[in-house]
Amino acid sequence: MAKPILVLNGPNLNMLGVREPAVYGAETLEDVRQRTEAAARKAGLEVDFRQTNHEGELVTWIQEARQTAAAIIINAGAYTHTSIALLDALTASELPVVEVHLSNIYRREPFRHTSYISPVAVGVICGFGPKGYELAVEAVAAMSGTLASGLAADRKQG
Ligand code: DQA
Repeated sequence: MAKPILVLNGPNLNMLGVREPAVYGAETLEDVRQRTEAAARKAGLEVDFRQTNHEGELVTWIQEARQTAAAIIINAGAYTHTSIALLDALTASELPVVEVHLSNIYRREPFRHTSYISPVAVGVICGFGPKGYELAVEAVAAMSGTLASGLAADRKQG
């Protein structure tokens, strides 16, 4: 079986739907998980969707991903702007990384304009809310060439 995409969510993202809805929207993390999984199914991929409030747990999951995942999609929350440990772990994973943020971090406070993750990411998707997770899955699929075959399968079914 093909390896899944590891989708990592950092601190406070378990509060989606409740937390600052004007910034992050009304959808819960469970809604985001369902969207992400649906996008993956469409692209012929699987996702392993996780959230933690603990930096070290993210580091451990990224270390494990080297063996178990095909790519990493990560919304590291506030650790984006602080964590050299996450940068080091992502670098060591040698996996394709897509960085995601619900909000457009460049329209917000200056301290959110710096990402320690971007230098190791293939690309960054921010400002599109939960849709960004679907776009990230499509980006991984496009990189691995599975998007085209997933869409072809859709067309056959339709
Ligand atoms: C966020 C942006 C970060 O600056 C913030 O700390 C978050 C969420 C986003 O998805 O927009 O927790 O990563």
